Amino acid sequence: MQFPDEILYGRILVTGANGLLGQALVRNLSSHPRYDVLATGRQQRPVFAPSNCGYVRMDLTKAHEVRQVFESFAPTCVVNCAAMTQVDDCERERELCWITNVDAVETLSRLCWSTGCKLVQVSTDFVFDGDHGPYKETDRPAPVNFYGKSKLAAENILRESSLDKWAIARTVLVFGAEPGLSRNNIALWVQRELENGRPIRIVGDQYRSPTFNVDLANGIELILRYGASGIFHLSGPELLSVHEFAVRLAQVCGLDAGLITETDSATLNQTARRPPRTGFVLDKARRVLGYAPHDLDSAIRLFAQRLLDTTNN
Ligand SMILES: NC(=O)c1ccc[n+]([C@@H]2O[C@H](COP(=O)([O-])OP(=O)(O)OC[C@H]3O[C@@H](n4cnc5c(N)ncnc54)[C@H](OP(=O)(O)O)[C@@H]3O)[C@@H](O)[C@H]2O)c1
Repeated sequence: MQFPDEILYGRILVTGANGLLGQALVRNLSSHPRYDVLATGRQQRPVFAPSNCGYVRMDLTKAHEVRQVFESFAPTCVVNCAAMTQVDDCERERELCWITNVDAVETLSRLCWSTGCKLVQVSTDFVFDGDHGPYKETDRPAPVNFYGKSKLAAENILRESSLDKWAIARTVLVFGAEPGLSRNNIALWVQRELENGRPIRIVGDQYRSPTFNVDLANGIELILRYGASGIFHLSGPELLSVHEFAVRLAQVCGLDAGLITETDSATLNQTARRPPRTGFVLDKARRVLGYAPHDLDSAIRLFAQRLLDTTNN
């Protein structure tokens, strides 16, 4: 897609830059000369090799640290990729989840409001109950677990704020390969277990539209590029069960799908309830942003290539 020449896209502050999405987004934005990017994360140093961007340590739950970064960098837009993302941990450690996923967004929202900065909040399919996916942006949220409730509360902060410019980018079951991640993701886990010949059990009664982190980063970049506001559903294009996804990954990567056994949510006994069928309708993102995620097989191939690259470097 052609860049409108005259537009300066701005000074972008990325939170959670060491995470699965954060790394892909920082890489994407830093490759455009029109973005001035400051990556921030909890660690003293970035877990990736930053090029064409700055990095500072910033714990989102410490309002004074966030204020200092706003004062020194003066962002025109913040993309909040940071969150407590482990769904079962959120169920058990509710206070920490709320401080990280909700109170921190309140802090960002207030600072954005007082400086005229745009806020892009990354959110989740878990704001829905999963009774009738795939979901459109206009469908009514009804979270079934504490993580989903915290992410919906964060969305509501933006919706009910006096911010001039805000956007919510919701996504689904993100996968990708990045260096130094603090948590696993489904594709990495399946790939590693199968490669080592270990049998695995995967739920067949949870349906998702798996999202390649690079596609999600592209979608968010489009939101920034076009100054889009409101809610956008950004996921992969295909709805399938998590078990089917694992089998596809095995097939595309040439791994032994026979090691995968299908199980169900009741047997798995996860701490937090999961919405059974989510996934997104992408019509709005395609129409308004020109969002064009890879088909699932291509995304898996790119994931496998990236895994090789990150392992060899
Ligand atoms: N992954 C999925 O399947 C999925 C699905 C739907 C929506 N989302 C949403 O997508 C966004 C990005 O998630 P992700 O997949 O990139 O997860 P991730 O890899 O867990 O990244 C989250 C990042 O947030 C950072 N973080 C946590 N608490 C922080 C704090 N107090 N201050 C600063 N940074 C903090 C983490 O830092 P550490 O590295 O130090 O832990 C981590 O780097 C989140 O909003 C998540 O809710 C994710």
